[in-house]
Amino acid sequence: MTIFNKDDILNAFHYRASTRSYDGNKKIPADEFNAILEMGRLSPSSVGSEPWQFLVLQNANLRQKLKPYCWGIPTMETSSHIVAILAKKNARYDTPYFGQIMDRRGLQGDDRAKIMEVYKKFQSEDIAILESDRTLFDWASKQTYIALANMMTGAAMMGIDSCPIEGFDYQEVNRILADEGLFDPNEWGVSVMVTFGFRDKEIRPKARKTFEQVVKFVE
Ligand SMILES: Cc1cc2nc3c(=O)[nH]c(=O)nc-3n(C[C@H](O)[C@H](O)[C@H](O)COP(=O)(O)O)c2cc1C
Repeated sequence: MTIFNKDDILNAFHYRASTRSYDGNKKIPADEFNAILEMGRLSPSSVGSEPWQFLVLQNANLRQKLKPYCWGIPTMETSSHIVAILAKKNARYDTPYFGQIMDRRGLQGDDRAKIMEVYKKFQSEDIAILESDRTLFDWASKQTYIALANMMTGAAMMGIDSCPIEGFDYQEVNRILADEGLFDPNEWGVSVMVTFGFRDKEIRPKARKTFEQVVKFVE
């Protein structure tokens, strides 16, 4: 395993910047974009739930339909790639969806029954997300943001720009994509979107809180 130099990694973190203006003529090569999607797919998730799907929106007509509901941002046209990250709805411990998680781990018989009890307590008491469809969806959405971050940071390490997008009308965007038959709205919903491409101008340096403001060592 190659160990990457911390300064190189931090340089990528400094370089990554939410990009609101792309060079519309520059496209990310397919193999590089597939690598970014792999960084999403390989991301960690609570109990290995992987409650995500990545819809890569390359169709110009569809992008035009979405644009008015995405605050009219020009990057809906100029991004090399746009990903709508979907989060699983109703990812309860007692659903077939959770059964698949246990299948992937090869859990059967007593082991499976035991882990199901653990997941039941986890979801119903410890993290208490069974109160509503919304709390359960938000839990799945949280996992998708890990994939989001990994894709954006990985892209920055490859010199590719990105911008996370929460600024859109969730109801309309979900309706448009579901009406296109891209997912079953009873099973999935858009948690966040992200654009990728190449910046066409310098982006002003970050104005972050200081290390001391956000870190506390407890010894
Ligand atoms: C979850 C999330 C959603 C965001 N949504 C938008 C958005 O809709 N439009 C936008 O221009 N920037 C959006 N941003 C970018 C933030 O404004 C930006 O990350 C922040 O100002 C810090 O700047 P930087 O990303 O360039 O370091 C979003 C960021 C995150 C993490």
